[in-house]
Amino acid sequence: MFRFVSSLLLLSLLTLVKTNEDTSTTKLRTLIEQLQQEVVEIKNQVSSASRCSCQEFIEEDGYILAFRMVAGIGDKGYSVFVDENRDDDLPLVRAVTPCECRSNLTDCNRHYRGSILRYWSRLAIQTVKLVVYKEGQAKQYVVFNGTGSTYSNWMSPTRLVESSWVDLKSSKTNFFSTTGDVGLKRRFYMNHVYNGCSGDSGWLVVKDETDDCGYAKPSGVKYPLILYSPSFSLVQYQSAAIDRADSLAVWVKLSGVNSLKAVCQN
Ligand SMILES: *[C@@H]1O[C@H](CO)[C@@H](O)[C@H](O)[C@H]1NC(C)=O
Ligand SMILES: *[C@@H]1O[C@H](CO)[C@@H](O)[C@H](O)[C@H]1NC(C)=O
Repeated sequence: MFRFVSSLLLLSLLTLVKTNEDTSTTKLRTLIEQLQQEVVEIKNQVSSASRCSCQEFIEEDGYILAFRMVAGIGDKGYSVFVDENRDDDLPLVRAVTPCECRSNLTDCNRHYRGSILRYWSRLAIQTVKLVVYKEGQAKQYVVFNGTGSTYSNWMSPTRLVESSWVDLKSSKTNFFSTTGDVGLKRRFYMNHVYNGCSGDSGWLVVKDETDDCGYAKPSGVKYPLILYSPSFSLVQYQSAAIDRADSLAVWVKLSGVNSLKAVCQN
């Protein structure tokens, strides 16, 4: 395509010399513009191809994505989180992963469990950030001190550093962990109190399957279900104040590592 346009340009140049100067200038300009467009297209193709095959880890603001759960896809998110044999960063797994799940996650409809979860204890994990998303936007976050943690115990009130939920630090909680309420299978659970279904209040809960309370089994909704408070404080789950998130992600900051991209480019 590139070579074709080049020879076309050359041919036209030779022809044009003999013709009227105004016309030739216009034609020449058009051809140059066409050529420039082709170059831009080729550049875009090359860069999008390498973005997909080369970028091994998703990074944002110094954080690396460790885990991502997508709501409503009918695949249990917490089960993926605790599946210690699953590593979505393995070359074979990565090779068969659609591009949208490797770069721009907006259109990705599968869970991601990265090597970071598998090798958590061997990595110098400094900070862990839990983020809740809706319509492609981060809605709420909680930052934890990851020093000396395991992939399953970082989500705890004693490690809480800061949050977009301003009352989280000062409020009492009866559940605050990834494991959550084992009996009711309420995961990634940050709950204030139990007070009958209608009085249950908190900030976040993930459900992979049905529940005793109506708010955790709304009709016509596919699991996983990610319920969160969209305001700055806790809410009653069984109220109009609750919202459903599209996804939930766990990001980590490694001590002394600012970016993993350099490894990829070499
Ligand atoms: C990701 O994909 C969506 C939908 O295709 C698009 O609207 C959005 O702009 C993309 N974001 C980036 C950063 O490329
Ligand atoms: C994180 O926890 C470690 C170990 O308890 C402590 O030494 C460190 O100061 C804490 N960091 C922050 C930012 O709180």
